[in-house]
Order: sequence, then structure tokens, then C-alpha cells
Amino acid sequence: MSVPALRRLTAADVDAFRALRIEAMTAEPETFGTDIAEEREKSVEASAATLESTAVFGAWLDGELVGMAGFHRMKPLREQHKGTVWSMYVRSSARGHGLGGKLLRTVIEHARTEVEVLNLVVVSTNTAAVALYERHGFQRWGLEPRALKLDEGRYTTDGYYWLPLTPVEP
Ligand SMILES: CC(C)(COP(=O)(O)OP(=O)(O)OC[C@H]1O[C@@H](n2cnc3c(N)ncnc32)[C@H](O)[C@@H]1OP(=O)(O)O)[C@@H](O)C(=O)NCCC(=O)NCCS
Repeated sequence: MSVPALRRLTAADVDAFRALRIEAMTAEPETFGTDIAEEREKSVEASAATLESTAVFGAWLDGELVGMAGFHRMKPLREQHKGTVWSMYVRSSARGHGLGGKLLRTVIEHARTEVEVLNLVVVSTNTAAVALYERHGFQRWGLEPRALKLDEGRYTTDGYYWLPLTPVEP
């Protein structure tokens, strides 16, 4: 695999971003909190606004967006010291080469410039993602039963993880 180029996405990347979000939800419907029908309903303007108001990093391979990872800072005044990792995805053909790790480290480094705590939620059976997050120091502090309701009345159990970015008080 040639070396992918990583950079922050802007509103100009909205078409590639939307296409990769749809691909992610089609390929991995049980790993994302957003339903694909909801994703399809989002307007191009809303997606572009999301790219401007959050920080989404993309991995480009031969001109194609093949991976992404986003950072979102909490808005309420008393929660602005926290941020969340969202929309983490690497196309299956590009996996296993460290791209997910590179994207996650880019998000962590960006988060360090803005917040004290980085949070994320992951379906507990998603072993590849759980291993990736734990390898980067995220610690699980809780489990949410019946977190997402899938088809046929099946549910996910989601793990809640945090990564303190400043020394933790004793
Ligand atoms: C989770 C996900 C982003 C990981 O992406 P990735 O690019 O495969 O991640 P990495 O390559 O950095 O790490 C994955 C594995 O490859 C291994 N790896 C890392 N560098 C490698 C290299 N140069 N060569 C071969 N393997 C390598 C890692 O050790 C890791 O193995 P392990 O998990 O078995 O210990 C990807 O599987 C994915 O998109 N999954 C579906 C969407 C998803 O689950 N998103 C998260 C929602 S919360």
C-alpha cells in the first residue's frame, strides 16, 4: 500500500466525506450510532457545516478518501474541557497497515490543543476498534446495556472510554 496523506477535511471535501460516511454505515451498520437512513437525509450544507464546526481528519490514498476520524468539542460551558472521538473508519482494503492508529493519534494530538479529556463510545463487540483504543491508552469506565437498538430487536452493549490528556488529580 502506498503511503496515505493525512490532512484535516474542509467544507470543500464534503462530497468525499459524505460518500465515506455512507460507505462506513453500509459496510459496518452495527458499529455506528447513526442509522444510514438518517445519514442519507442530511443535507450537503449540514455535512459541510459539520466539517467546519468539528475537526475531521482524512486519509487520502491515490486521490481517494479511504479513512477518517473526527474530534468534537463539547459546547456547554462546564463541559468544554471535554471532547469526543467520532466517525472513525478505515476502508476494509486499507486496514491492518496502521492507518487507524495514525488517524487516532492525529485526533489525540489535536485534542491536546483544545481539551483535557477525550471520550469515546464503542460497541463492546467491536474487537478491532476496542483493541485500537486500548492500545492508545483509552480506559473503559462504563458499559451501557441496550445502547443501540438494531433490527429484529437486537441491542448493542456500548463501552464508554476516556483518555485524560492532563495529569489526573489523586
Ligand atoms: C477500527 C479500525 C478503524 C482500525 O483501522 P486499521 O487501519 O485497521 O487500524 P490499525 O492498522 O492501526 O490497527 C489495526 C490492526 O492492525 C495492526 N497493524 C498496525 N500496523 C500494522 C502494519 N504496519 N502492518 C500490519 N498490521 C498492522 C495493529 O497491530 C492492529 O492489530 P490488532 O488490532 O489485531 O492488534 C477499522 O477496523 C474500521 O474502520 N472498522 C470499522 C469501523 C469501526 O469499527 N469504527 C470504530 C467505531 S467506534
